Amino acid sequence: MPTDLLRPPPRAIAAAARSSLTDLWRPVATGAYRDIRRPRPQAAPKDLPRTIFDPTLPDNIANPHPAFERIREHPVVVNERLGVWMLGRYEDVHAAARNSDVLSSRDGVSLRGFGPSVVLIADPPDHTRLRHVAAPVFTKRSVNQLTSDIQQLAGECVAALRSGEAVDLVAALTIPMPINVIAAILGVPREHWPTFRAVSDRFAQLFAPRSLVEVTRVLGSSLQGYFQMRTFMDAEMRRRRADPADDLLTRLEVARATGELSDSEAFLYSLILLVAGNETTTNLLGMLLMHLARDPELFEELKADRTLVPRAVEETARWGSPVQWVTRVATAPYEVGGTVIPAGGKVVLFYASANRDPRKFSDPDRLDIHRDTTGHLAFGHGLHFCLGAHLARLETVTAVNHLLDEVDGLELAGPVRWGTTPSLQGPASLPVRIRRQ
Ligand code: HEM
Repeated sequence: MPTDLLRPPPRAIAAAARSSLTDLWRPVATGAYRDIRRPRPQAAPKDLPRTIFDPTLPDNIANPHPAFERIREHPVVVNERLGVWMLGRYEDVHAAARNSDVLSSRDGVSLRGFGPSVVLIADPPDHTRLRHVAAPVFTKRSVNQLTSDIQQLAGECVAALRSGEAVDLVAALTIPMPINVIAAILGVPREHWPTFRAVSDRFAQLFAPRSLVEVTRVLGSSLQGYFQMRTFMDAEMRRRRADPADDLLTRLEVARATGELSDSEAFLYSLILLVAGNETTTNLLGMLLMHLARDPELFEELKADRTLVPRAVEETARWGSPVQWVTRVATAPYEVGGTVIPAGGKVVLFYASANRDPRKFSDPDRLDIHRDTTGHLAFGHGLHFCLGAHLARLETVTAVNHLLDEVDGLELAGPVRWGTTPSLQGPASLPVRIRRQ
């Protein structure tokens, strides 16, 4: 019997509380200690441009592009209050993402240090070991084998949309799609999917905090979800020991049993896939649907020629950058356009700014599905290039194709509410009226 996700037994909660020390609290304490010792940009030369732009504030999340334009006027801009060096030009962000031997991910990818042992937040050799465990599941070939499952899940969501009624496409389609897909890949029993989403949602904020106080607050509010998820995943992996299945939880259990992953790493792996794969895909799909609802010509063009759908997905990724920025820490002095960022300095890589840099993409604010999007950085670049990029693309293309198959038109039925998760970008609510024959 699978464990009850929402009501773990008290003994399991006690065990999860102990493991939270390794999984969460120790990485927070280490991150905070490193943050305190980090060089601050106050000492940077006086002629280096300063900014007060804070990418985590809701107004800036809703529209960061005017600020990005100003940041791109210089190779490097510093924000003294946040204690960071900011990069916004395509060439510099691209080079920084590639330069993972000097720009480390070990202290996390958000503004404050937080480095649990997960692939996103690891340097080699740990990164190589961690990535190796799940990489075979996310190759283009493996992901393509999921096509019929993904089609079925998309079909279920789209079939439920009624003609003429106002419906929030975020709640009806863009949220359930990715969570259901990753739950299926992990091997989570289907009856648990709705609660699985509710619990996993509590973790999305973990990678976003701006201050140590916020890190502690977010962790505190995530603890219940952590206990539930840890207990559930541990029990599911234990079940795989006796009864292996063709799923990712079995793969994680095998890696744990052979010592390739520690107990914590096996659990945290399932968690990072949830955090990295859900809201990001929700946002990409949501942004493309928003364009389709606003632009009937685009809708008709894609409906008539489905070979354009993958291009539209790629261009939406460039235009919208569901992951707007990440951070790195310089392990040695790092030079950008004549400015030297000191060792230990925290650097923000604005993928979203790079993707709208007119030096790389002409008329960059315009969504143009016919443009050449080669080189866009929506899925990152280099060592940490998105593990789930093929999956995210397949999910988005499949969902949009299903919608175009079934629906004759989309029309906005109210204001689009924008998400407020720092570093992510996309609609949190997309009310539309569906037209179908
Ligand atoms: C539209 C959807 C997605 C976008 C825009 C996106 C974007 C990104 C970006 C920009 C990075 C690089 C982070 C960095 O430079 O530090 C990344 C890494 C990662 N993504 Fe995605 N992602 C998406 C979907 C997914 C999905 C569906 C999964 C898995 C289920 C996933 C799993 C990961 C993992 C594990 C990493 C870390 C890889 C590493 O460090 O080697 N992502 N993603």
